[in-house]
Amino acid sequence: MPERFDPLSQLTLEQLRDRTSAKWRHYPSDVLPLWVAEMDVPLAAPIARALHALVERGDTGYPGDTPYLEAFASFARDSWGWEVPVATARPAASVITAYTDTLADATDLGGTVVVTSPAYPPFYLYLRQAGRTVAEAPLDADLRLDFASLERAFASATEGGARAGFLLCNPHNPGGTVHTRDELAAVADLAARYGVQVVSDEIHAPIVYEGAEFVPYLSVDPRGIAIHAASKGWNLAAIPAAVLVFGADALVAAERYDAGKHAHATHWGAVAQTAAYNEGREWLADLVAGLDRNRHLLASLVAERLPGVRYHLPAATYLTWLDCRALDLGDDPAAAFLSRGRVALNHGHTFGTGGAGHVRVNIATSPEILTEAVDRMAATLVG
Ligand SMILES: Cc1ncc(COP(=O)(O)O)c(C=O)c1O
Repeated sequence: MPERFDPLSQLTLEQLRDRTSAKWRHYPSDVLPLWVAEMDVPLAAPIARALHALVERGDTGYPGDTPYLEAFASFARDSWGWEVPVATARPAASVITAYTDTLADATDLGGTVVVTSPAYPPFYLYLRQAGRTVAEAPLDADLRLDFASLERAFASATEGGARAGFLLCNPHNPGGTVHTRDELAAVADLAARYGVQVVSDEIHAPIVYEGAEFVPYLSVDPRGIAIHAASKGWNLAAIPAAVLVFGADALVAAERYDAGKHAHATHWGAVAQTAAYNEGREWLADLVAGLDRNRHLLASLVAERLPGVRYHLPAATYLTWLDCRALDLGDDPAAAFLSRGRVALNHGHTFGTGGAGHVRVNIATSPEILTEAVDRMAATLVG
C-alpha cells in the first residue's frame, strides 16, 4: 500500500521557527511551543492554489460571489449527513464575531451567557466585552456535560424573565469531548424549558476521530444557531471566515442578524475556506489520521514519562487536556513547564473553573516535536 501523506511530518523545526505567527513568535526561540491552536502543517495544496490565484490576479477586493455557503453545505451533507438549506446560512468574519453577535442579540446588556467550563478563554473575554455576564456550568470529571449544573445555571440566568444564552462547544475545547445525540437532545429540552438561546460553536467538527460521531446541534434543535468554519481543520487562522446556520425556528434571529451590526467574511477568507471544503477533503483525512496517531502517542508518552498525570484521550480536536494536579506544581503547572522545561503549553486556570492544575497541549505537530515536548515536561519534574 502506498504510504499516506502526513501533513504533520512535512516541516522541520527550523522551517517552523521561520514562521512569524503567534505560536512561533510569542516565546523566545529556546521554547518549544505547543500552545495556541495553530498546526505545524504546510498549507493544503488546493488552498495554496486558490490563494496564489488571488495574488496573481491582484484579487484583493471586497467579498464577491464565492460559493462559500454552498461549499459548506456540501461538506456538511457528505461528512455528517446534515442538510443545510443555504438560505438559512450566513457568512461571518470569524467564529468569535459570530458567537458574540448572535449571543448579544439573544440577550440584553448585563444578561447572562452560560458556558461549560473549563472553556476556551475567548468565550469569556468577548462576551464580557459585549457587556454580558458569563456564568459557568462546569463539566464533570470526564469533561462531559453535567445536566444538574447546566439546569442550575439556566434557572439562575433566566430568573425574573431575563433573556439568556448558552454557548455550547461541540466538540469541546479543551479536551475534545464529542457530545452525543442524547446529550444534545437533553440540552435542547432544557434550553426550551428555560427559553435559553443555544449557540453551538462547531469549529472543531472536521477533526473527530474514529469511534466518535459528530452530531450537528441543529439536527436536534430547530431553535438553535450553529457556527462552522474551516479555520481549525485546515489551519486558516490568518484568513478567517465562518458560517452561521440558523435553525428552522430561529429564522427571526437571521433576519435581525441581516439588519443588525455585524462583520462580513473577507473575500480571501471565504475563497480559502471554499477551497478547503470542496477540494481539501483528502488532505483533512490525512491530517486526522496523523492526529489520531499523535493522540495515542501522547497517551503512551504520558504513561511512561509523566506518572501521576491524567490524560483525557480526546475524541476530537488536537487540543488535549492534562490533569497535572498530582504533580507538585500548584495551580499553574504550565508556568513551571515553561520556566524550567522551556515548553509552552496553555495555562489551565485561564479556562475558568475546573482549569487550575491542568495544561492544554496542542498535538498538531510532528511525533518528534511532541516527544521532545513531553521529555521537556518530564525534565521539569526532576530535581
Ligand atoms: C472553540 C473555538 N471557537 C473559536 C475559535 C476561533 O475562531 P475564529 O478565529 O474564527 O474567531 C477557536 C480557536 O481556537 C476555538 O477553539
